[in-house]
Amino acid sequence: MSKRVLITGGASGLGKSLAERYLKNGDRVLITDIHAERGEQAVFELSPLGDIQFVTSNTTVDSDWDALVAWVEKNWGGLDVIVNNAGVAASGRIDKISMDDWDWIIDVNLKGVVRGCRAFTPMFKKQKSGQIVNIASLAAVANAPTMSSYNVTKAGVVSLSETLRHELTPYGIGVTVVCPSFFQTNLAETMRTPEQGMENTVKKLLAGGKLSAEQVAKKIVDGANKNTFMVLPHLEGKALHLIKRYAPFLYNLGLADAGRKLKAKLERNS
Ligand SMILES: NC(=O)c1ccc[n+]([C@@H]2O[C@H](COP(=O)([O-])OP(=O)(O)OC[C@H]3O[C@@H](n4cnc5c(N)ncnc54)[C@H](O)[C@@H]3O)[C@@H](O)[C@H]2O)c1
Repeated sequence: MSKRVLITGGASGLGKSLAERYLKNGDRVLITDIHAERGEQAVFELSPLGDIQFVTSNTTVDSDWDALVAWVEKNWGGLDVIVNNAGVAASGRIDKISMDDWDWIIDVNLKGVVRGCRAFTPMFKKQKSGQIVNIASLAAVANAPTMSSYNVTKAGVVSLSETLRHELTPYGIGVTVVCPSFFQTNLAETMRTPEQGMENTVKKLLAGGKLSAEQVAKKIVDGANKNTFMVLPHLEGKALHLIKRYAPFLYNLGLADAGRKLKAKLERNS
């Protein structure tokens, strides 16, 4: 049966690829984003595939969420899937990254997802159905040095999702959390960092990703449709998840090495 799907941050990268995948499955899609021009462009490109619409909306603004709930009620009479995808990136050593940047990334990456879950849970409870899909990151599993603020927000999204999984299942609501490794998108554009050269490093990591955004999107939609709790789209993500649990010594050796290399690199650059 055709689903009604809302995707935040759907104007670019993973959100746009998710919209494409859902449309190809015959579902109806509403994408939201703060980037209005890219949102309209995404609708222009994807509308030959099916019913897609765009609303400018900021996940950090409560009244924008109220407006989205009203839009969904008026136009669709309900919702089947919400994908809390909108996100930003930040990097920097703990003594360098500013508290303003901590507040900013927590507001978007963590509280933006909390707001999405809070906004649509009453509707899902009334329907006795609905799927929440929260986009976290492999950063929630493997806490790489110099990424503290990003890692914390994504670990928070995993924790929120684990909590809601067992809180909402009795109401007929499913929860999926997604932990991808790197893949090519525009994420580096929004990155805030006080570190010289860090933006280029992140750009290279995104470009070197082993899966495309389309491939990641397919794995997410297939997983969410089966109510899989945790989707780890990349093989290296699955491996890291297991190594951390069953061979923590190896996991720590790898991250200790990364910490030493980053120290040398950042001190050279500053
Ligand atoms: N690209 C990767 O390697 C990677 C890896 C793991 C997780 N992720 C996660 O995937 C998600 C999508 O990111 P992406 O890689 O496609 O990046 P992207 O920058 O291409 O897309 C993110 C979109 O979110 C929008 N956005 C940002 N703040 C917003 C807000 N407050 N309200 C509404 N929209 C907002 C941006 O305008 C942008 O269109 C993010 O949560 C990111 O953390 C990405």
